Amino acid sequence: MAETITADMIIHDVVSRHPATVKVFHGHGLPCTACAVGSRESIAGGARTHRFAPEKLDILVKDLNAAANGQPTSVAPKKAPVGRGVPLQMSTAGPDRKIKQVIAVMSGKGGVGKSLVTGLLAVSLRRQGLRVGILDGDITGPSIARMFGTRGQPSKSVSGGIDPLTSRGGIKVMSMNMFLENESDPVVWRGPMISSAIKQFYSDVDWDQLDYLLVDLPPGTSDAPMTVMQSLPVDGIIIVSSPQMLATMVVMKCINMVRQLKGIIVGVVENMSYFQTPDGERYEIFGPSNGTELVNMTGAPLLAQLPIDPNLTTLCDAGRVEEYHAEAYDLLAENFINTLKIKR
Ligand SMILES: Nc1ncnc2c1ncn2[C@@H]1O[C@H](COP(=O)(O)OP(=O)(O)OP(=O)(O)O)[C@@H](O)[C@H]1O
Ligand SMILES: [Mg+2]
Repeated sequence: MAETITADMIIHDVVSRHPATVKVFHGHGLPCTACAVGSRESIAGGARTHRFAPEKLDILVKDLNAAANGQPTSVAPKKAPVGRGVPLQMSTAGPDRKIKQVIAVMSGKGGVGKSLVTGLLAVSLRRQGLRVGILDGDITGPSIARMFGTRGQPSKSVSGGIDPLTSRGGIKVMSMNMFLENESDPVVWRGPMISSAIKQFYSDVDWDQLDYLLVDLPPGTSDAPMTVMQSLPVDGIIIVSSPQMLATMVVMKCINMVRQLKGIIVGVVENMSYFQTPDGERYEIFGPSNGTELVNMTGAPLLAQLPIDPNLTTLCDAGRVEEYHAEAYDLLAENFINTLKIKR
């Protein structure tokens, strides 16, 4: 007798064993639960995320069983968009190290410029002809796709994984933004789902050959940074901070977490270090630099002290970060490459 599908089963498993159920999930308005990310949820969990009433969940389960047995369903089956609803195979991106180095960007405090540093480091590395990808590990507050102006849904790759989007400058980008119908839609997910999404952004995405995969993380020491450290083959971590006492104190927590998880801090970046007037005068708006303290705390080199530049914010908001040029970021990229060479 055929297996009975129950609400506690994982969507990915159900869809794998009974491909006819894909269209039922979509027919019931569960597009994202059948996609690469949400498919690791149970049927009941997916229904909860989509605020299904209990009766609606019962009907969905009934229809799934009907479809699996080749019987008619209560809703018209709906075709899944490309790249969604189809169980994704693990790509070869991870195990065979087509990606030479995976570097995560972390901070203790929010808003210190992690995403910006990740984005602009990628831009500088790319300008040197290196192959760079960015995995936006900030699932609930993704900002990378926006900064690069990459739009559109990722499509299914030849090998059955997901093709990342490519920026105008040739940087490969994978972000939760691409799965949201509207950029302003909230991602109301609990830790385990966030962790699962991050893992899939690494393993199911066809990153192809990369010199560096940069992982932009949310602030602090929540599930997301832990997942990245424990599940991805991270070669090194960059810590971003800003010249404020509070930032230094909070950054210590982040350093301690990295140590506990046996990660390697390859460098620190001090962002918003100063503002320079057109005449070349420098003002330390957020107080004196604490770069030396950061170096002492981490034992890692200070890769850059980056200025505050209002033009940068404008370009980021317009999705044109790749048009930005400043010496400080070229120096960051140079120090980054040299440090990683030394570490290898
Ligand atoms: N050096 C800078 N000059 C001007 N604006 C900056 C600079 N660094 C960051 N910003 C701006 O500050 C804001 C926060 O930066 P960003 O989003 O990169 O921080 P974050 O650490 O990633 O934040 P979160 O913790 O929320 O992920 C953005 O609007 C960004 O454009
Ligand atoms: Mg960010």
